[in-house]
Amino acid sequence: MTTVLIQGARPYGEGDPVDVLVEDGVITDIGSIDVPDEAEVIEAGGHVLLPGFVDLHTHLREPGREDTETIATGSAAAALGGYTAVFAMANTDPVADNAVIVDHVWRRGQEAGLVDVHPVGAVTVGLKGEKLAEIGTMAKSEARVKVFSDDGLCVADPLLMRRALEYSTALGVVIAQHAEEPRLTAGAQAHEGEQAARLGYTGWPASAEESIVARDCLLAQHANARLHVCHVSTSGTADILKWAKERGTKVSAEVTPHHLLLTDERLATYDPVNKVNPPLRTGSDAEKLRAALAEGVIDCVATDHAPHAVQDKDCEWNSARPGMLGLQTALSIVVETMVRTGLLDWRGVARVMSERPAEIGNLSDHGRPIEVGEPANLTLVDPDTEWTVRGVEFASIAANTPYEGMRLPGVVTATLLRGRITTREGKIAP
Ligand code: DOR
Ligand code: ZN
Ligand code: ZN
Repeated sequence: MTTVLIQGARPYGEGDPVDVLVEDGVITDIGSIDVPDEAEVIEAGGHVLLPGFVDLHTHLREPGREDTETIATGSAAAALGGYTAVFAMANTDPVADNAVIVDHVWRRGQEAGLVDVHPVGAVTVGLKGEKLAEIGTMAKSEARVKVFSDDGLCVADPLLMRRALEYSTALGVVIAQHAEEPRLTAGAQAHEGEQAARLGYTGWPASAEESIVARDCLLAQHANARLHVCHVSTSGTADILKWAKERGTKVSAEVTPHHLLLTDERLATYDPVNKVNPPLRTGSDAEKLRAALAEGVIDCVATDHAPHAVQDKDCEWNSARPGMLGLQTALSIVVETMVRTGLLDWRGVARVMSERPAEIGNLSDHGRPIEVGEPANLTLVDPDTEWTVRGVEFASIAANTPYEGMRLPGVVTATLLRGRITTREGKIAP
C-alpha cells in the first residue's frame, strides 16, 4: 500500500490546517492524524490544498514537432503547474483525426505517468473543414475521446458544424470551437484597433470571433447539443454567452490566462512572443473577461499552452507563429488577476481550474471534492510566495513565455496524481 500524509494543509484555503491521509490513491481520512508507518509525509505549512487542475486546452506537439514539446515534457510542465489532467489538441502532424493517433497519444501520456493526457479528436479530416472525421470511432477507442476540436482552425462551414453538434449529442461528447470566421481574419496580425492601426498590422476584428460564437450558440440550441467555446477574447463574446446561457443553451466557455492579464498595448515592443490567436485585446476586454469568469458566464480557465521553436518566434512579426506557453504560469496569473483582486476566492479557483473543466471534459475522477472516499488528485499551493519567470527553466522544450522576468504570486509546491506524488518543491518527484 502506498501511503501519503499531507500535514497541515488548508483545503480550499479555508479554516484551520488539517492533515489529509491518502492510501492507495484515495483520500481515507481528514483531521488530526498520526503519521502511519512508511507514510511519505508532505509538510504543507498551512498552504492551500485544491483538487488537481484540469486543462481543457493544451498543445503538446507530439506527433510531429517534438523539437518544441513532447507528451513527456508537456506532461512534466503540466504537473509542475499543478495539473493532474490535460486535453491535448488535435492539430499535430499527423492530425489526431483517427483512432490510431488518439490511442497513441493516450498511451504515451500514461507511460509518462505525470498527468492524464486526454487526446482531443479532430472534428474534420485533416482539420481541412471539408468532411467530418470518425468521431464515433475515436469516442469508442481506447482513448475514449471526449472532446473534439479543429483548434488552430475554426469549423467555419455551418452545415458541418451543425452535423458535428448533432453527432456529439448522440455520442455524449463535446465540440470545442476555435471561433474565428476565416473570411474576416485573412492576413490578420493583431486585434483590430488603435494599436494595430498605429503599428501597421492587419486588424483582427472582434466580430470574427463573435459572429461564430453567436452562430454556434444558435446551432447548438436548435440541435439541443452542448457547445464549448475555446479562448474567449472579447467583451462582446461574453455578452453573447450570457444571453445564450440565459435562454438555456448548453454552452460552456474558457478564457486563457493571457487574455485575463495581457493587452494589445504589449504590441508596441514588436516582440512576436505576444503574437497569439485569438490576439491580445484591449484593457476593457480583459476587464470584462475577468468579471465574466468571476460570474460564471465564462466557466473555466484553459491555458492554450502553445510551444513554438525559436525560429518560429524570433522572427519578423508577420511570419511568427501565434501562441504562448501557459502550463507553468496559469495558476500564478489566476492568482494575480482573480485572487489578489478579490474576484475569486480559493473555492472559485478550484471551480475554474479543476471542477468545471473536469465536468466539461467528462472526467469522472478529476475535479472532485476534497473528501474521504474521493480520488487523490490534488495540488498544494503556496499562495503568497512570489517567483520570477524564466522560460529556460520550464520543463517545456520551447521557452516562448510572454511573462519572462515577471514576478508572479503563487507557487505549486506539490501535485498528486491518484495518490502518487508527481511534483514536489518545483521538481518532478523521483
Ligand atoms: O495561438 C494559438 N496557437 N492559437 C491557436 O489556435 C493554435 C495555437 C497553436 O497551435 O500554436
Ligand atoms: Zn484556438
Ligand atoms: Zn489552441
